Amino acid sequence: MLIGVPAETALGETRVAVTPETAKKLTAQGHTVRVQSGAGVAASVTDAAYQAAGAEITDQAGAFGADIVLKVRSPFDNEIALMKPGTVVIGMLNPFDTAGLQRLAAAGLAAFALEAAPRTTRAQSMDVLSSQANIAGYKAVMIAADRYQRFFPMLMTAAGTVKAARVVILGVGVAGLQAIATAKRLGAVIEASDVRPSVKEQIESLGGKFIEVSYDTDEEKEAAVGVGGYAKPMPPSWLARQQVEVAKRVALADIVISTALIPGRAAPTLITEDMVKSMKPGSVIVDIAAGKGPDGVGGNCPLSEADKTVVKHGVTIVGETNLAALVAADASSLYARNVLDFLKLIVTKEGTLKIDLEDDIVAACRMAQDGQVTKK
Ligand code: NAI
Repeated sequence: MLIGVPAETALGETRVAVTPETAKKLTAQGHTVRVQSGAGVAASVTDAAYQAAGAEITDQAGAFGADIVLKVRSPFDNEIALMKPGTVVIGMLNPFDTAGLQRLAAAGLAAFALEAAPRTTRAQSMDVLSSQANIAGYKAVMIAADRYQRFFPMLMTAAGTVKAARVVILGVGVAGLQAIATAKRLGAVIEASDVRPSVKEQIESLGGKFIEVSYDTDEEKEAAVGVGGYAKPMPPSWLARQQVEVAKRVALADIVISTALIPGRAAPTLITEDMVKSMKPGSVIVDIAAGKGPDGVGGNCPLSEADKTVVKHGVTIVGETNLAALVAADASSLYARNVLDFLKLIVTKEGTLKIDLEDDIVAACRMAQDGQVTKK
């Protein structure tokens, strides 16, 4: 089949959906891979590297004029116009963007959003949320360490002793766990909160401390189990108790990394303005949920601003919304492998397209086909 790889055009997007490693595998399977010139440059991949892997270099129209188009982000209208009806487009297409899905359907595309894959063992190798959130958790700590005017580790020097940084992590999914592991490697003292008590052991195994909040009612206990590995909104009674415990830790923290999300809903407010005021001058918040707060304003902290770093009440608040794109090369490598594994589900060994809706991953990721939005 003819596989096209356009350059990403979303602001700040540095990743690319195919790397020379995956291009080589696709060409070995008998496919023709056409990569838009310059598509890999921001991820440190040259056109020559793609050519050496057996891919052809083309222009934008050539990359979109394929049987299968592999993207990182959802295509814009002018890009959709370059695809013929029936084209398969695979990417992080945002399953919650109803208008966007309608545009893909109206163009007659067969669209697959990889974020919608179920959190099952079989889907793990194509789990883009995990591969990219892992990187975001790492980069959040790197940025915090860079912005913070002190050391992370405890140091005993001839000039005196330096205290270890206190790091609070809010939300311990994939990003939060990697943030704990990374901050620990730098020598910080870590405490973490999540609505799901099942993460306690994982936090402790990485050397962090779980911020305990009791589950007092059946409703609280039931909500804490979540659904499909994801969090459910917690009852206000529990959130109020959590806030008291988190506020105590945040007041003492040097760094707060917040990653708390509930799929398809606004990110919960966990760091109030009063909590920011209680922090020491020079403290740093990295809000991975920036831009996902109520009505798209703020994130886990209402003071954070999407894609900006602001200083409020003496605290630096980083609102970077695409942290994975700041680690473009590895983010692309992992993403490209996720895409390659997904392709195996819809392209037969003989190299023909077969969209098998009996396959739960294919069915969950399919967002549009034959002019209809097909999101489950
Ligand atoms: P996410 O990005 O949707 O959310 C991040 C974290 O925020 C979650 O741990 C969630 O519980 C937490 N959160 C939500 N509301 C909160 C609140 N009010 N206070 C504190 N924390 C709050 O989650 P992500 O990273 O996508 O992971 C979800 C789960 O799926 C994790 O348990 C992960 O380990 C699991 N998973 C399972 C896989 C598999 O079995 N194949 C693959 C990948 C992830």
